[in-house]
Amino acid sequence: MLIRLEHIEKTYGTPDHPVPVLHDVNFEMQDGAYYAIMGPSGSGKSTLMNILGYLDTPTKGRYFFEDVDNSRASDTQMAKIRNEKIGFVFQSFHLLQRRKAWENVALPLMYGNVPKRERRERAEQALTEVGLKDRMDFYPTQLSGGQCQRVAIARAICTQPKLLLADEPTGALDSKSGQQIMDIFDSLHERGMSIIMITHELAVAKRASEMMHIYDGVLSKEGVR
Ligand SMILES: Nc1ncnc2c1ncn2[C@@H]1O[C@H](COP(=O)(O)OP(=O)(O)OP(=O)(O)O)[C@@H](O)[C@H]1O
Ligand SMILES: [Mg+2]
Repeated sequence: MLIRLEHIEKTYGTPDHPVPVLHDVNFEMQDGAYYAIMGPSGSGKSTLMNILGYLDTPTKGRYFFEDVDNSRASDTQMAKIRNEKIGFVFQSFHLLQRRKAWENVALPLMYGNVPKRERRERAEQALTEVGLKDRMDFYPTQLSGGQCQRVAIARAICTQPKLLLADEPTGALDSKSGQQIMDIFDSLHERGMSIIMITHELAVAKRASEMMHIYDGVLSKEGVR
């Protein structure tokens, strides 16, 4: 099993004014699976994504990654898991504007102390995979939105993570660019990448092999309350 969530709860706020967001979330995912999670605004999708990506900790419950319970991991341990095992793609790309495409892609490799020459080679490989080898030395301002998102995907995969997490990856794109992003996800999935993608769009969610719904912090397979 790649990941297993057991009775996950997330509550924000203070003890006096608790804001419960996730309720008894249970979820299992096999290595190589491709899930889409749909749900209305405010239902807890990003909160769940942050927990899955070790950007935040659950208030209660247990989270196993590769059968290891990391629920009580320290910030340093969480950063290590994030860097080694997980790639992130966000709606708004999060690229550094003053860095070339390949430098953005190579950024996660800096933390792994990979030598510069190898960083460029691996960035080139990842950019080739998303069809942007000829844009390696372009700055984000010289790229279209769809191309920026492809750079962000290359950055997410260049560390060869176990799990790719995408929060509304096509949300800021026109439908043609969105299609290209979905085609890339398909080919990553075919190569064995495990993917969890959050989306508002049914047409996008249908590209995944499994669909989940979240309403008011309750995750379910059927999508009915
Ligand atoms: N740091 C926080 N402190 C307090 N409440 C928060 C915090 N982060 C999120 N929330 C609340 O948790 C709920 C779920 O937020 P979340 O961002 O997970 O929703 P979402 O499903 O991703 O929505 P969207 O589709 O708009 O991105 C919201 O009601 C939000 O106000
Ligand atoms: Mg969100």
